[in-house]
Amino acid sequence: MADRLVDLRSDTVTRPTPGMRRAMAEAEVGDDVYAEDPTVTALEERVAALFGHEAALFVPSGTMGNQIGMRLVCEPGQEILCDADAHVVTYEMGAAAAIFGISTRTVVSSGGRLDAAQLIEQVRPQDNWHLTATAAVAVENTHNRGGGLVQPLDQLRALWDWSRGAGVAVHLDGARVWNAHVASGVDLATYGRLADTASVCFSKGLGTPVGSVLVASAERIATARLWRKRLGGGMRQVGVLAAACLYALDHHLPRLGEDHEHAQLLAERLGVDPATVQTNMVVLDDLEAPLVAEAAKAQGVLVSQVSARRIRLVTHLDVDRAGIERAADVLAELLDR
Ligand SMILES: Cc1ncc(COP(=O)(O)O)c(C=O)c1O
Repeated sequence: MADRLVDLRSDTVTRPTPGMRRAMAEAEVGDDVYAEDPTVTALEERVAALFGHEAALFVPSGTMGNQIGMRLVCEPGQEILCDADAHVVTYEMGAAAAIFGISTRTVVSSGGRLDAAQLIEQVRPQDNWHLTATAAVAVENTHNRGGGLVQPLDQLRALWDWSRGAGVAVHLDGARVWNAHVASGVDLATYGRLADTASVCFSKGLGTPVGSVLVASAERIATARLWRKRLGGGMRQVGVLAAACLYALDHHLPRLGEDHEHAQLLAERLGVDPATVQTNMVVLDDLEAPLVAEAAKAQGVLVSQVSARRIRLVTHLDVDRAGIERAADVLAELLDR
């Protein structure tokens, strides 16, 4: 049954391909806490260059990448401003507050879409002893709870241009910035240069079992290395994991468009406006989510319940065209579409 399941819950469910496993098995390794793992170093240098930054750090998860990234640009007692549905405040267990003493303040956005003016209006000055100072703004691209929405480049630019004069930093949660790049055609370096710190994930659309990379200035990455060790994220012969990430850049990044096409196909078959599907996620609203999820599961299709009335489908490497068609058949019949 497991092999016949079409698992559309998330793009994190992928398993490493035979080619990726071979790359992992053959990786040259060393002790990365001593910064002596050549494969990790190669990955860090490659990702830093891709995003137009001086340096990078391999971390175990997107959560660690985000939290260290935010700590680099925000002191305890200061605040980070972000969208109310951002991953950093919704799914990271209150880490900014619990671990770093960082206060977060949220703004309700329209479906996760960045509105630079709306955020800027909420920023509090750093030289007023009555107020919690806003040290940074966090942006998510693509936006997970926004259904894989690609942030508009003009808004990213407006925020960045304003932030330079205001002394406010920008952190990018780029867990799926690869999908944004493929969908929009905007260079990864363009996205990278519009952020002071950015965390990018390999264990989502790129299909590795683990791994994220944080990019920033060399000085900030030196500090990030200390934070990673302090949080228990110092890893040893971890080139086996970095090799999977290098493999993914060569073999899986170029195929992400296929996931986006599959999402379009699902949208068409399920009566979702294709314009609302920008990358690899399809959101189905106004339904009894637990009932639909249960009935789909009984027919071998796994979906994710975002809320009582909303279901999310995520396309990825491990679901081919035939799987997408099967999922569309099952869901179309269940939803009478
Ligand atoms: C937008 C976004 N940011 C960060 C993360 C965190 O990644 P991880 O699960 O590796 O901690 C996720 C995970 O799904 C995500 O969707």
